Amino acid sequence: MLRGRRIVLGLTGSIAAYKSAYLLRLLTGAGAEVRVVMTPGAKEFITPLTLGTLSGHPVVSELTEDREAGTWTHHVELGLWGDLILVAPATAHTLSGMAEGRGDSLLLTVLLSAKCPVIVAPAMDRDMWLHPATQANITQLGERGVELVPPGTGELASGLVGVGRMAEPEDILEHLQGWFAKKAPLAGRRALVTAGPTHEPVDAVRFLGNRSSGRMGLCLAQELARRGCAVDLVCGPLSLGEDEIQHMTGHPLINKIDVETATEMHTAALQALLREPDCDLIIGAAAVADARPAAPIKGKASGSALPDHIDLVSNPDILADLASKRPEGCVAIGFSLASDDGLEAAKKKLATKKCDLIILNSIADQGSGFGHKTNRIRMVWPGNRIDSFELKSKAQVAVDILDAYQNMDR
Ligand code: C5P
Repeated sequence: MLRGRRIVLGLTGSIAAYKSAYLLRLLTGAGAEVRVVMTPGAKEFITPLTLGTLSGHPVVSELTEDREAGTWTHHVELGLWGDLILVAPATAHTLSGMAEGRGDSLLLTVLLSAKCPVIVAPAMDRDMWLHPATQANITQLGERGVELVPPGTGELASGLVGVGRMAEPEDILEHLQGWFAKKAPLAGRRALVTAGPTHEPVDAVRFLGNRSSGRMGLCLAQELARRGCAVDLVCGPLSLGEDEIQHMTGHPLINKIDVETATEMHTAALQALLREPDCDLIIGAAAVADARPAAPIKGKASGSALPDHIDLVSNPDILADLASKRPEGCVAIGFSLASDDGLEAAKKKLATKKCDLIILNSIADQGSGFGHKTNRIRMVWPGNRIDSFELKSKAQVAVDILDAYQNMDR
């Protein structure tokens, strides 16, 4: 459930901080990538060296990284990096800072600038926990969506017995796993997505191809990863900027495999399909070239040496082949790009490509198809059911397609 998840672990100044070393081990052992932020108070109880070694990343705790050099810690980046911030242990002091929106520690500034959800595991003496001020802060934070792993009851560092002990690391791990299962509906599943065009060499510099940018496939991979699904993304040559590609495919749950030709895409996709664990979903979003030159010319042919005609051989239908070899229960979704209405052709593809759903789009619709950031789709289902959608961003179309996939489960 935590594989590939990015967790910012915040530690504050409580004796329970020693338990956070073990918690960190549990989180990384479950596959999460963890970055640690400590308040100065937390460093009184456990060293950054311990947590830095266990997480494999430098620990940050001050707003200024290096006073001499004038560099500062990028709290905004850390807040944006995480899928989740877990503050464990959370002291009464930091909880009150969170409730008030103060920014007087690096951890508080990370929390203020974070876009991701926050979970707190408080630790303090019984009377501090039961104090109306602490309880009011907890209520206020709860109203803002901060989740609580409630403290347990037992012997406290003060010698008192009562409520206030930080929840045990195993219980916090279980809480997080449950949380991700709820928020990441496709956690534990595996998908294979093909994207982009393929280029079929005519000679060393020329190729047959098409104008697909690959954006639709990348949006699908990005949305799958957001929902917790591991993705093998087999990409032909994309026509998007490097930064955009990195932004859309940088999630640790996305395994991007670059290919050039349909033959290479076929081999890579089959390999990804047939490895363990079983694949749950195939989406053929690639615009695969239907044919390739039978005998590509070696080197660069000079203009005058180019042949009058080029013999072509058909490329394999990758999606049809993947769908016929998929494990039981694996869903196959294909695309159909038309230049007219295209409905009859899309219905045929459902059968010939052995798909559970065909996403039909047409270049006759303004803003749809290759090269656009938007798309207008129709979902073509077996049994003549058709769902029509408005023109939307491709990111939103990916949301609609994956909502439809999730609804198939019911
Ligand atoms: O037959 P057509 O090219 O219209 O089919 C489109 C669908 O089939 C897309 O999902 C595309 O990714 C897939 N396809 C494929 N291999 C091919 C041709 C198309 O996987 N050779």
